[in-house]
Amino acid sequence: MEDQTHVLDRPPPGAAADWTVPQDWARFTPAEHLVWDTLYARQVKLLPGRASTAFLRGLDALQLSKSGIPNFEELSERLMKLTGWQVVAVHGLVPDDVFFDHMANRRFVAGNFIRGADQLDYLQEPDVFHDVFGHVPMLADPVFADYCVAYGKGGQRALGLGGLGYLSRLYWYTVEFGLIADPEGLRIYGAGIVSSASESRFALDDPSPNRIGFDLQRVMRTDYRIDDFQQNYFVIPSYEELLRVTVETDFAPLYEAIKPLPDIAIADILRDDVVITRGTQAYARERDKDRG
Ligand code: PHE
Ligand code: FE
Repeated sequence: MEDQTHVLDRPPPGAAADWTVPQDWARFTPAEHLVWDTLYARQVKLLPGRASTAFLRGLDALQLSKSGIPNFEELSERLMKLTGWQVVAVHGLVPDDVFFDHMANRRFVAGNFIRGADQLDYLQEPDVFHDVFGHVPMLADPVFADYCVAYGKGGQRALGLGGLGYLSRLYWYTVEFGLIADPEGLRIYGAGIVSSASESRFALDDPSPNRIGFDLQRVMRTDYRIDDFQQNYFVIPSYEELLRVTVETDFAPLYEAIKPLPDIAIADILRDDVVITRGTQAYARERDKDRG
């Protein structure tokens, strides 16, 4: 679930009716471009052998290695040729129905600001590095691109079915924090992981988190945390399989089936789980101790 507290109920001044704003690329300062370059250099060093082949291929195909914050017009032109998607700028978070409408129509909304040089590791709201470096390479993959379109349509449907909370968990545990069993081995593809130096290591290498085989209903019932590394990662077998199971399942009866069921606590492992790694949860325990 996106944090609703910052979302306005109408487009901010200067934004269009669909909440988009001009990227105004010329406005970025050399210092801001340097933040992008610094983050980019750090991630490309870490990602070979960690990120999914699809992600690395997208990074290449979109020429994100070009220095500086990407110009969305150029980026959209390349992306459009590959999968029909575009990248559009927005001011901050947008309401759910607006977000879903953009996705359903192959427009990815990206934040129009970049974090400061003093905040390379942690930030509260998604900036252009998270949105573009993290998300857009996967949108160059035809199967994942179709999954995101289907998700947007599913979101519009969920709004009328009282399923938004459940559907948001699916987004969280795939698009944001997903792992995949690539033919080469376990890899990261979620945008929240691939755009973070510390979580790119943690998600794959740390003994603390659980790594569990993806199961649609299980994921939709599972809580998540937005303020620190995940305690649970779900592993899909392939993007084709993720697309197939989500498209072939009618979510309306699924929402009804899970509404009476309790949520699953973040670090719990269930009897039916396919456990890839049983986490020690040592990291989470230490953190909770520190926080008192
Ligand atoms: N099949 C889902 C539904 O019936 C739509 C969906 C597809 C949702 C893909 C998410 C991802 O609502
Ligand atoms: Fe994101």
